[in-house]
Formats: sequence, C-alpha cells, structure tokens
Amino acid sequence: MRNRPMTILETYEAMHAGSRAWAAKAVGVFPSGVTHDARAFQPFPIYVERALGPRKWDVDGNEYVDYIGGHGALLLGHNRPEVMAAVRGALERGTHFGSSHDLEVLWGQQVIDMVPCGERVRFTSSGTEATMMALRLARAYTGREKVVKFDEHFHGWHDIVVGRLGPDDARPHAVGVPDAFYDSLTIVQPDDVEGLRAALAGREVAAVICEPTGAHWGTHPMSPGYLHTIRELTRETGTLFIMDEVITGFRMSPGGAQQRYDVMPDLTSLAKIVAGGLPGGCVTGRGEIVDYLELREEDADWNARQRISHQGTFNANPASAAAGLAALRLIAEGDECAKADAAAAALVHGLNDLFARESVPGGAWATSSMWHMNLGTTLSRPSDVEWDAAEEPEGIAPALFRPLRWALYNHGVDLMGNGGMVSSSHGEREVADTVAAFAAAIADLRADGALG
Ligand SMILES: Cc1ncc(COP(=O)(O)O)c(C=O)c1O
Repeated sequence: MRNRPMTILETYEAMHAGSRAWAAKAVGVFPSGVTHDARAFQPFPIYVERALGPRKWDVDGNEYVDYIGGHGALLLGHNRPEVMAAVRGALERGTHFGSSHDLEVLWGQQVIDMVPCGERVRFTSSGTEATMMALRLARAYTGREKVVKFDEHFHGWHDIVVGRLGPDDARPHAVGVPDAFYDSLTIVQPDDVEGLRAALAGREVAAVICEPTGAHWGTHPMSPGYLHTIRELTRETGTLFIMDEVITGFRMSPGGAQQRYDVMPDLTSLAKIVAGGLPGGCVTGRGEIVDYLELREEDADWNARQRISHQGTFNANPASAAAGLAALRLIAEGDECAKADAAAAALVHGLNDLFARESVPGGAWATSSMWHMNLGTTLSRPSDVEWDAAEEPEGIAPALFRPLRWALYNHGVDLMGNGGMVSSSHGEREVADTVAAFAAAIADLRADGALG
C-alpha cells in the first residue's frame, strides 16, 4: 500500500502507460526513439493520437492545450476547416502529377502578394531546403563564397548553417562536416555592430542570414533595431541580406517580421505556415536573384556555368499547395495574426500574475505569438509583454525543466522549449486552462521539493 502521495514523475508514468508502450517500441526503431531531436524527452515522450484547434489528445486519452503547434506551422490551429476542405479537394484530384498545376501558381502569387520583398518565388519541401537555396542563390548572384550567421541562430540542419562556435573556438565546426567547409562561415554575436562591420568589410561575404526575432524564435532576443543595422551594413558592402522567416513568416504579421519591423531583406526563406500545416517551404525575394534558377533556352553558358539547378520530388505538391493557399488567404484576409498575438499577451499577463501571487521567481514574455519564460531563475519579469533584448533571458532552470514538463503534461499542457507557439484558435479558455495547469504544477513542484 502506498503511504505517500505519488511524485510528479510517478503520476506522469501512471497517466501515460500507452505512450510508454509506444516509446519502448520506438527505441528499437529510431535513434533515441524519435524522428526529430526536439521530440526526445525522458523518461519517454507522449504519443499523440489526434488534434483539433488549440488542443491535442494522446493515446491514453489525456487532453492538452498545445503550444507546439506543429513546430510553429499551425498559426490557424489544428485542422482549420477551410484548410482541411482545400486539402481534401486536392487529394480527390491526385497527390502528385509530376507536372505543373494551377494551385502552385496561385500559391506562389499569394506568397508574392503577401511578403514585402517577394518578387519571384521557388518552392522547396522544407525550411532547411529553403535556407540552403537562399544561400546558394546568394553565392551565385554575388560571386562570393562567404556567409555570415549569428551565434545560436537556427536555420535547419544542412552543412553550412550547423556550424557552431564552442566557448573557446576560433572557428566554427560541426560533427560530420569537413572543417574546410567552415573556411567560408563567420559567426557574429547578435547585436554586435562592430563585429558585423568587420566581418563584411572585405566585401567577400555573399550573405548575412538571421532569425529576425533572435535565436530560436526569440528565446535569445535580438534588438529589432539591429535588423536595420544588418540592412545598412549589407547594403553598403554589396552583401545580400537573407531574413530567415521560416517561423516568423505569416505569423508576426501577414507579411512576417519584415513587415512588422519595416526592414526589407533581399531574400527570405519561408516554411511551416506557408504550407498550411503540410510539408513545404520556399525562397522569395528580389527577382534578379531568384532568377538565378532560370533555365535559358538559348544560353548554354548561363545554364552550365551561372544558374543554379534545383529539383525536389515534392516541391509544390498539390496537397501542400492547397493547404498553403487556403491558409495564406485566411491570414491575408482576416485577423489571424492579431488574434494569436492577443492570446499570447493574455497568457503572458496571466502567468506573470500567477508567478507574482505564488512568489515564484521568473516571468513570461512574448514576441508576437511566440512566448517564453524564465522560471526558477534570478531574473526579474518583464514589465510588459516583450522582453528587453539588452538582457539575456535565463530560461527554465535546468533542474526544473523536466519536473515542470511532467507536471504540465499531468495537468494538460504541452510546451515547446521554454514556452511555445500560440495559434489564432487559442482563446480565453486555453489561457485560463494553462494558467490553472501552471498553478497546479507549481503546487506539485513544491510538494516534490523541486521548487522553493
Ligand atoms: C528559423 C528556422 N529556419 C529553418 C528551419 C528549418 O525548417 P525545417 O524544419 O522545415 O527544415 C527552422 C525549423 O524550425 C527554423 O526555425
């Protein structure tokens, strides 16, 4: 007979027996049992059966308010009826024609109409492919090889963008990529004006690529003013500015971060929301650059020596095109971005009130509909919704991270990192349920001795 209450972890294990059984099978199939690094979780992750709007349900029947939102792809929430109807309509006609089709043209035009820098577009199958294409276009257009990225900024998993600087490293490296590859990569600290100026001074850099919110969708915020600095310094040195809007595109406004912050890049990489919850991405931007993909019938030298080639079986497949077109039209014509922003702001206020009431050290903040928190750390909470980029957030204290996630799963909330993505389907009920789940989790953490 149990003579003490169950711990948070014991409760997690008891409530998630079905997930545990699937996880036991998965470790024999996948490295770490997962198909994306961010889905790895100890002692095992939840297995989800279905989702609707802002919520999802696991194989044990537990319900969650979802803050992963398809890794950011679902600004409209899960299974938005108009998007689902468009996909169903497309599937009736066929999943793949291996030919050009009407929906891809309408989808491409919609991207051009919405993204401020968009003059021409080319679809890819993922965000990783989109940043790879943008960098290759930049090298082809400028005739330069070097690339500048910012420390910690994430642009997918292809060779050049996975280069990282360790604390004592003079140059970037990455396991599985030849060191020589990083002769062409310089990593600059975000918000470092002089560092960027020095990196661009030799006029050898093809492009500067950045996440406009700062690394990991604003987990490490960058001053919006720095985007203008990047624009000025790249323009002065003939360097291209690639704004990686794989997360922020169609989320921070219908025209993305570039519209919200009024900064015009030369090229933009997009994925996630652009494909309405199905696989897809694209590069858009100045026509004369994107046209380095152009095949010229009468110009063999151009085709062989100057243009870049591009294939991809599932580029602009009909189902993704239908989903993307339906989602982008809803975003362009409605107030989806504003609704998601408002729900995120309400959540931030609700959590900060709770943390203050419960004397919990920490605080939440949001950039548009992406929210983050410090918890169990010494930093004060922001006075408003946004974080002041002059101070680096601490996130969730490492010892608290797993117990907090377990406790929140037990009470029906699924976070992404130190916070998550809010959709336009999140409303007052989700905010109230999330704040209540945090209140219960705080009580559990205190009962377990994990939080003072
Ligand atoms: C800013 C950014 N760029 C690129 C990528 C890579 O996109 P994908 O996962 O579709 O390859 C991501 C993925 O999260 C991202 O956040």
